[in-house]
Amino acid sequence: MSDAPATLKFGDKDIGMPVLSGSVGPDVIDIRKLYAQTGAFTYDPGFTSTASCQSAITYIDGEEGILLHRGYPIDQLAEQSSFPEVSYLLLHGELPSKAELDKFTYTISRHTMVHEQLAMFFRGFRRDAHPMAIMCGVVGALSAFYHDSADITDPQQRLIASHRLIAKMPTLAAMAHKYSVGQPFMHPDNRLSYTGNFLRMTFGVPAEPYVVNPIIERAMDRIFILHADHEQNASTSTVRLAGSSGANPFACIAAGIACLWGPAHGGANEAALNMLREIGKPEHIPEYIARAKDKDDPFRLMGFGHRVYKNYDPRAKVMQQTAEEVLRELNISDPVLDTAQELEQIALNDPYFIEKKLYPNVDFYSGVILNAIGFPTEMFTALFALARTVGWVAQWNEMISDPEQKIGRPRQLYTGATQRDYVPVAQR
Ligand code: SDX
Repeated sequence: MSDAPATLKFGDKDIGMPVLSGSVGPDVIDIRKLYAQTGAFTYDPGFTSTASCQSAITYIDGEEGILLHRGYPIDQLAEQSSFPEVSYLLLHGELPSKAELDKFTYTISRHTMVHEQLAMFFRGFRRDAHPMAIMCGVVGALSAFYHDSADITDPQQRLIASHRLIAKMPTLAAMAHKYSVGQPFMHPDNRLSYTGNFLRMTFGVPAEPYVVNPIIERAMDRIFILHADHEQNASTSTVRLAGSSGANPFACIAAGIACLWGPAHGGANEAALNMLREIGKPEHIPEYIARAKDKDDPFRLMGFGHRVYKNYDPRAKVMQQTAEEVLRELNISDPVLDTAQELEQIALNDPYFIEKKLYPNVDFYSGVILNAIGFPTEMFTALFALARTVGWVAQWNEMISDPEQKIGRPRQLYTGATQRDYVPVAQR
């Protein structure tokens, strides 16, 4: 707690409120007693000035473009770590020893298969169902299969459920893709890495052996790291709010998937590539920049702007470098990458974007790489959900263990009709 409390003058009262300090970042004004003291609520639609919880997992400095996971900068983790190791770090707070990492990797590999009955759930979807619609359904359905890890008060059951979710998301995402292309599901091969296993389940076929391309495996693993967690974003807040009622972890993660799907959030990676393809040639860019600036036009540059980053999203920088590396190493020239880089340069030099501090975010370049690897655009957000599951699970565990945790129940500013008597229809 900081020394000087905040004071609010409300009517004829001076209300003192404690100011709390974290290890780094903005202080918070503790308003938990405000309603009792004033009879008034705070008002913050979109929670632009509201801290919903305490957390030790991820820190973002939006002005400086800094992203730390348990204190480690995202660019160092992307360059030197692996997704399983970052998953361990997010869950347990420290980088693992080799023995700890080997044990964690082995444990996750023992949960990669899904119940055979679950495979039947896919049959109910149309082949052209959006993968995110399928993921919402089948991840929520995991609740029906794992009653032995749904007691959220038991730390051991929470850990097993966490491992199950991290392990099964690649299998389910790959199944969603296979179902959409009419190919048989591939069972996991636990001799492969987490990411290599996912690539084989997605692109391999039973008719022939699949050899994991190390360039693609490394790029995919890095993309998973870049999407693993991101403080109290909309989908993470959804998982926390669902979890605050005591809902089981599978249902909570399904809620997070649903929220992530929106084009303002995780759905932006699919929308960004579609936008870049619609723009087509660089000479069309000015027309789209003008539309993005036009108040009367709902069009926005997808993959641009961020609630927190008012500087370059550090993930976007790593993503752009990875896009250039992957296309070069795969010897692919994709005009969409040229359009993306040209669009970025024009936007970053445009007064509108400069004044509103709009920069590329994590979704701007990811689609270029995923497209080069061979994923259909509709799969992009499912890949985001696959990677973000470890962040959701880490944040959910932290919330359940938080002694201050209680069910989330915001209030409102009521603007509707005041009390009035019912009028029978014959008198209306
Ligand atoms: C993710 O929160 C997270 O951490 C999310 C995420 C994560 O890892 O979990 O980082 C992942 O969701 C990244 C964001 C992906 N979304 C997009 O790329 C969609 C396009 N971007 C926007 O819709 C927007 O920038 C948001 C939704 C990301 C942020 O919106 P805010 O914070 O509510 O800001 P705003 O909509 O109030 O915009 C501020 C101003 C507005 O102009 P004014 O009304 O003040 O005149 O900037 C303008 C907006 O019109 N603006 C844009 C723009 N984004 C904001 N104008 C043109 N193009 C854009 N992309």
